Amino acid sequence: MKNLSQAYFRLFFSLLLIASIFSCDKKEEITFTESTNEKYRPDYHFTPPFGWMNDPNGLVYQDGIYHLFYQYYPDSTVWGPMHWGHATSQDLVSWNHENIGLYPDSLGYIFSGSAVFDAENSSGLGTTENPPLVAIFTYHDMESERAGNDDYQSQGIAFSTDKGKTWTKYDGNPVLPNQGIRDFRDPKVSRITNVNGEKVWLMTLAVKDRIQFYESSDLKNWSLLSEFGQTIGAHGGVWECPDLIPMTAPNGDKKWILFVSINPGGPQKGSATQYFIGDFDGKTFTPDEEQEQWIDWGTDNYAGVTWSNLPENRTNPLFIGWMSNWQYAQVVPTESWRSAMTIPRELELFEANGRLKLKSIPVPELKALRSAPIQANDGIIPLPSQSFEFHAEISNSTDFGFEVTNEKGEKLAFSKDGDEFIIDRTQSGITDFNDDFGKKISTKMDWEAKSIRVFFDAHSAEVFINDGELTMTVISFPSIPWKNIENLHGLDKSEVFDIKNK
Ligand code: FRU
Repeated sequence: MKNLSQAYFRLFFSLLLIASIFSCDKKEEITFTESTNEKYRPDYHFTPPFGWMNDPNGLVYQDGIYHLFYQYYPDSTVWGPMHWGHATSQDLVSWNHENIGLYPDSLGYIFSGSAVFDAENSSGLGTTENPPLVAIFTYHDMESERAGNDDYQSQGIAFSTDKGKTWTKYDGNPVLPNQGIRDFRDPKVSRITNVNGEKVWLMTLAVKDRIQFYESSDLKNWSLLSEFGQTIGAHGGVWECPDLIPMTAPNGDKKWILFVSINPGGPQKGSATQYFIGDFDGKTFTPDEEQEQWIDWGTDNYAGVTWSNLPENRTNPLFIGWMSNWQYAQVVPTESWRSAMTIPRELELFEANGRLKLKSIPVPELKALRSAPIQANDGIIPLPSQSFEFHAEISNSTDFGFEVTNEKGEKLAFSKDGDEFIIDRTQSGITDFNDDFGKKISTKMDWEAKSIRVFFDAHSAEVFINDGELTMTVISFPSIPWKNIENLHGLDKSEVFDIKNK
């Protein structure tokens, strides 16, 4: 069965490759049949039907539908000419594969970016009666890069007047040309009030080692407002995929949160997302403190950003990340596809030891997938499947732990030892594709831990302590499925819920 499916996918990719050689502006519709029988294919996490995926892009909500676009290369399971893949969902858990949203063109590959609902048709790309969705993305001109130029990245836009089904590139692209800076990318656009009290579009852009903010009234003409961060925060790698959102602190103050992904240079090596809490006056971002914080202390939550145009009953920002790490994303042992997204998370501000921090809470929609709980019996919880949620209260707030294990003696271990929260991947199964994968990772948690929730799926575990006050996401590749949770200590009311996507 496995050999057959491998042969099928090899044939499939060869056909796709031949097709791509003969068509430059490729627009054929692809039939999205997923190979669901692969052992690492998740149940309730989004994965591409086949081929390569990285960052989430163009996150926008419209008329009951959450759109998820993503960096996509359908012709191979490693990174290549970037497209925007497209999926839609009504509940953030079941995703439908849609036709590819954006294809590379003569200006370049389509790198990461965002999408907005242009309700007032400020761009003129729709009509007042039927305002457009507008996608703002980076063009990456590979030939220009290979020719040794520095100005190969620029920003372009595309629009849709049929609720995201089809997209047309704006014929005046690029809307923000490059000024000779090699890393000039990942525009995140939002609606803000500027210093003159006018409603305008704000573009938050990653520019090598800093953020630039641009303003526009029509999404086509952009002017530079300010820069942030050249000497602030983590700088062990290039700044990428930023986002700027307003939030309310527990004391009622309005704060602005700036997210900046960085690769490499994360706290566990490789890719990670830092954030800064501060103020934004419509022109300049001023952080409360220069020290960066991290949205997730695990190895596998990168390039995450928030949805725009959320419905009014959704009061918290909604975030999703790419559940991998550039250190090893292209060599993980999946067959016909590579990478999943994290579960969607709601964000909230909270205070720990006098410091404001971001909390990432699993979306409530996930609770609807829970089955009846299974409790520990003689210290062991038998696992119902590969997709489940572990939940426990912490009886002894300094030390606790548990392990997921299989019949080959492999295990993924979670523990808190004093102030350190640790995930141990050393014996987690297949780890030899990268020198750093099979290691212990840890972070400090110096406030009280009261509960733990861990969402497991076929190749991942997402830890939420105190419902997301501390978050750690890791992927792992056990050679046979996990069978039990055992070696529980320092925990009360441990239980497992099977999670089944309809
Ligand atoms: C982040 C990133 C972005 C870029 C995209 C290319 O993972 O490097 O900066 O737009 O991936 O696929």
